[in-house]
Amino acid sequence: MTTIPVIGHDAILSAVSPERAIQRVTDAFVAHHRGAWKMPAKVYLDAAPHGDFRAMPAMGEGLAILKWVTSFPGNSSVGRPVVYGTILVSDAGTGEPVALVDGRAVTALRTGAAAAVAARALARDGAASAGLIGCGLHGRWAALCLTAVGYRSGICADLDPGAAQRVADEVGWNVGARQEAVECDVVTLVTPGTEAVIGPGDLQPGTHVNALGADGSGKAEMAIDAVIACELFCDEWAQASHGGELTGAVEKRGLQRDRVTDLGAVLAGEAQGRSSDDAVTLFDSTGLAIQDLALVIEVLELSRSGAIEAAEVDL
Ligand SMILES: NC(=O)c1ccc[n+]([C@@H]2O[C@H](COP(=O)([O-])OP(=O)(O)OC[C@H]3O[C@@H](n4cnc5c(N)ncnc54)[C@H](O)[C@@H]3O)[C@@H](O)[C@H]2O)c1
Repeated sequence: MTTIPVIGHDAILSAVSPERAIQRVTDAFVAHHRGAWKMPAKVYLDAAPHGDFRAMPAMGEGLAILKWVTSFPGNSSVGRPVVYGTILVSDAGTGEPVALVDGRAVTALRTGAAAAVAARALARDGAASAGLIGCGLHGRWAALCLTAVGYRSGICADLDPGAAQRVADEVGWNVGARQEAVECDVVTLVTPGTEAVIGPGDLQPGTHVNALGADGSGKAEMAIDAVIACELFCDEWAQASHGGELTGAVEKRGLQRDRVTDLGAVLAGEAQGRSSDDAVTLFDSTGLAIQDLALVIEVLELSRSGAIEAAEVDL
């Protein structure tokens, strides 16, 4: 019999700070870029017309994880989360189960953290204001993590004014129109990706954009012309070119791999970030299992030190 901890949503969110999430995710991008961590492609199980399931494996630091996670965009209209998820953690040396971890909390932390990691690496020196378009669950975590890396002023824009107000109140930013958010130094997009919220010519020189909402087939938050006009970065080309913000440009404009730089290469000091203060940079975040693994490592360390309480079950 194997006894494992089951680590829940609230316990994770109350124990892991945005700062720790940002550090862990930074380390994960570098480890993956250097080949120390493994991550096979995620598998999509379509559940049309409602959404999809994703199986996301990764291995590193002696652990192997499988995240089983959803994106059901219509859920928010009936008061349910868009994302549900559970992460099975195993010992990479023996295969023995190690823990069962809530995937929603980990997804929220690592998704928000990616926005902050990319802003720190790619925004121009002196960037100070943040615009957030889409202020739901993951938009909120992006705002919390951007605040943690110094974005003390910002504009929250959402079709639902209440959602924008809640995030603005929590992080000390203001509510504003989409156009005001677009004029900020760092613009983070976390809408469901069903319509473009950035059009051609919307972005001012020097802006950095994090595109987080387009994390599956058919989703996009920017017009293709707006994408093409940017200096392009992604979390992983295989995912970004097939189920990310870059996909439209790949399929309709023949965007090639050599125009896109991996964030991990920039963080490892092996590739250039933005070319100048006037460049417009775009980071396509599709969400990687190595980001989940990064947070799982943090959660397990906190659990072992007693900083996170967890129920134990016998398998
Ligand atoms: N890149 C990643 O790693 C990652 C991780 C998790 C979720 N996601 C994706 O992020 C997206 C958002 O997920 P969520 O859980 O935050 O959803 P959510 O429903 O909680 O929030 C979405 C918000 O966007 C707002 N919105 C919708 N259309 C808009 C528009 N045109 N302009 C402004 N606001 C608009 C909604 O009112 C809502 O407040 C989804 O597509 C999800 O799949 C990506």
